[in-house]
Amino acid sequence: MTITLPAFTPLEDSLFLTLCARALDNRSAQPILGDAMADQIVRTLDYDYEKKLNISTDLRLNATLRAKKLDEVASRFLARHPNAVGLDLGAGLDTRVVRLDPPSTVDWYDVDFPAVASARERLIPARPNAHVVAADVRDSEWLDALPTGRPAVIVADGLMGFLTRDEFVSLLNRLVSHFPSGEMVFNSYTPFTIWVAHHAPGTKTVADLVKFPGFSDPHEPESWNPKLKLVEEILMSRDLAKVPSKLRWYYRLQQHSTSWSRKGTIVLHFSF
Ligand SMILES: C[S@@+](CC[C@H](N)C(=O)[O-])C[C@H]1O[C@@H](n2cnc3c(N)ncnc32)[C@H](O)[C@@H]1O
Repeated sequence: MTITLPAFTPLEDSLFLTLCARALDNRSAQPILGDAMADQIVRTLDYDYEKKLNISTDLRLNATLRAKKLDEVASRFLARHPNAVGLDLGAGLDTRVVRLDPPSTVDWYDVDFPAVASARERLIPARPNAHVVAADVRDSEWLDALPTGRPAVIVADGLMGFLTRDEFVSLLNRLVSHFPSGEMVFNSYTPFTIWVAHHAPGTKTVADLVKFPGFSDPHEPESWNPKLKLVEEILMSRDLAKVPSKLRWYYRLQQHSTSWSRKGTIVLHFSF
């Protein structure tokens, strides 16, 4: 059965880039994530990604490798904290909660704009203790309604680029003061990768929506809030497994230099 969704804003529409990247990954010979539900959602929506998007192998790899890294951080945290709260900010139609399959003792919150939240409810099967929050993450009311007093793991995959620096800093500060402790993991941008997002053919559909300026020093968020401590800077070029051989030489070259690796996808992992 095909489902037709109400029209999204261009910002909401950005979810199709990452969703379709994961669907194409699932159809590839050597999937990185193997997200069959992402694939099914794209088929259910009959989304014409070939006409609307320009998903290169590199974009597909970067989107799925970073999703896998974020999953790994969240999964390790949930294994250590079975009473945790999990948040996916700007969750789009990502099926992370299905991939992570947290125990019922975990409360998981997928946050996105109301139109996306209702699309999630139509397309992603409900699960006990998985909650969809219809909100703009820049507002504070939605967070006030979430439990306090429990450790939290907070994931933001593909969100940061769409916020200004002040909006992102303020969001992080609100999260850190809401929960007693936790971890935060997100894909980050340097000024160079922000420049690429503005100019690369693959991100043409979102280029005008990118507001974040980027930062080069992975420790910079520690200066935004003294409770934030960098656990790890994860550089995708260090993960060669499943990179197709035609691109492997490029990743291998990048491995020789951290600053060159930072020209690719970066995931930052913090504790607080
Ligand atoms: C590139 S998509 C990524 C979606 C999802 N995380 C994924 O990996 O497939 C960015 C998402 O952030 C959401 N978003 C952007 N700004 C937001 C805001 N201020 N509040 C809530 N969601 C926002 C968009 O609606 C979109 O779903």
